Amino acid sequence: MDTIYYDLRDTKGQQKEIEDKISAAAKILREGGLVAIPTETVYGLGANGLDPAAVRRIFEVKGRPQDNPLILHVTGAQWLPRYCADIPPMAYVLARKFWPGPLTMILKRQPLVPDQTTAGLDTVGVRCPNHPVTLAIIREAGVPIAAPSANVSGRPSCTTAQDVMEDVGGRIDGLVDGGPCMLGVESTVLDLTCTPPRLLRPGGLPLEDMERLIGHIDVDKAVLGSLEEHERPAAPGMKYRHYAPKAPVTVITGAPAASAREIEKRVGPTSGVICFDEFAHRFPRQVVRPLGPSEDKLIQAQRLFEALRSFDSSGVTEIYAQCPDSRGLGLAIGNRLKKAAGFHVLEADSQRVILGLTGGTGAGKSSALRALQSLGGMVIDCDKVYQEVLDGSSEFQNAINAQFPGVFGADGRLNRKKLGQEVFAKKDRLEELNRIVFRFLVPELEQRITAADGLYAIDAINLFESGLDRLCDRTVAVTAPTELRVRRIMVRDDIPEQYARLRVFAQKADDYYRSKCDCELNNASESPDTFYRESRLFFERLIESIMEEKRKALNEPNETI
Ligand code: TXA
Ligand code: MG
Repeated sequence: MDTIYYDLRDTKGQQKEIEDKISAAAKILREGGLVAIPTETVYGLGANGLDPAAVRRIFEVKGRPQDNPLILHVTGAQWLPRYCADIPPMAYVLARKFWPGPLTMILKRQPLVPDQTTAGLDTVGVRCPNHPVTLAIIREAGVPIAAPSANVSGRPSCTTAQDVMEDVGGRIDGLVDGGPCMLGVESTVLDLTCTPPRLLRPGGLPLEDMERLIGHIDVDKAVLGSLEEHERPAAPGMKYRHYAPKAPVTVITGAPAASAREIEKRVGPTSGVICFDEFAHRFPRQVVRPLGPSEDKLIQAQRLFEALRSFDSSGVTEIYAQCPDSRGLGLAIGNRLKKAAGFHVLEADSQRVILGLTGGTGAGKSSALRALQSLGGMVIDCDKVYQEVLDGSSEFQNAINAQFPGVFGADGRLNRKKLGQEVFAKKDRLEELNRIVFRFLVPELEQRITAADGLYAIDAINLFESGLDRLCDRTVAVTAPTELRVRRIMVRDDIPEQYARLRVFAQKADDYYRSKCDCELNNASESPDTFYRESRLFFERLIESIMEEKRKALNEPNETI
């Protein structure tokens, strides 16, 4: 199908020509066609909201779930009684102040509004968009225009006509190009059928602005976090995975300096980064999409969806995003980012210190960990977490079984010895196993570590291979002279010297750990007590210098490029 393109970017042009294009678009809509229309928030995919067949086509073209209702776009509050019932006076108060504008009100519907539009609900969403071209089209069409965002379902919303072409071009009858959208995030959805009113979706109109006018507003749970499997959000659209690029997204909250630092620690050469402009230069090797100055949420809103969309063609394997605070437009921006991340959100916190410990057998890692515990540190034993996650996740077990058939016994338990043999001395098999393990282990560890403040010690053999080092403020190599290690494990494990020697030499040399880690804790002491005391002192100093650094990072004025 040919999509007729109406260029109305410059409405200061020929008046007659503009009017003709508006009439043509309105005619298509009246006759049951689909026309993408510009609004101040995002582009909408419009159809006559009173025509069930036309509305059905919207769902087809977008691939939209049937239970997700559409918003009716009208030219002003005078249209409300035609489509809504039991309208509370508050609706008119809000409309007078905020219409035309990015506010969608949920009200009881009139029977005239078809089930196709409301997805069978007894309520309907209504909004008056603030865009002269679209208002003129609706006026001319004389019918309310049902219009969801013009993206294919699941993708970020479209903020330019090019985005619309990319998603649904060729499958709709017309596209009206009104230039890039002014706001860039969708309208705020407010339910007025309950008392107090309830915010179902944060959007272009800040919550605070509405509360100043009408008092307290409840915030629906779906706005702030992901819902459990059985929970139903009040706005059906809020339950769907949305705005998601192909690569997984991690959102980092907290003060901009702290979240930037947190991202710096984590990124690799194939990471993508969404960050505030001031921090863009800190990621010279990554694909960076500057979101705008950290203080300018309007620019952030305008750039957000384009940033999310653009990663799909960039080949990045993971994306980290800085998140603004939740004031003003920040609530909507943060909500869209978190939805794109499937609510995988980490908090950058200056009060948290994470140390990664690694080193060969017999060097004294256990004593060092005990010293850290005595300083209030929480030790995370990665091997134990691995076991726990594996026991609890059939998806994890299946992933291992698919690559290493037969390593699970009849009792369903992993035969670690057999798996060990499968990967022993086979580099690519070991890498394959590591990839699977870390895919499941790293998110779990991240959740455990970032759940609270404090001091954490990650105890992992494969600290670097796993990428877990990226979570750490510092990595510490625990090393010791070879002869001492041999003697220690002879005593510890009650084994002959020859075995002890073999075990030490089968492992990576101290030089490996030394070259990889940020610092070294050398255990040349004959007495465990002495080493324990030395370790405590070492960690006390290390933690102090990390805290000092964090304090500085937070206070330092944002650098500008
Ligand atoms: O800014 C916007 O609102 C854009 C432009 C085009 O106007 N439109 C838009 O529509 O974002 P859409 O369909 O992508 O999102 C509408 C949201 C969905 O989450 C939907 O579930 C919710 O509003 N919604 C619509 N009618 C509702 C109703 N009767 N009750 C509860 N939620 C409703
Ligand atoms: Mg949408």
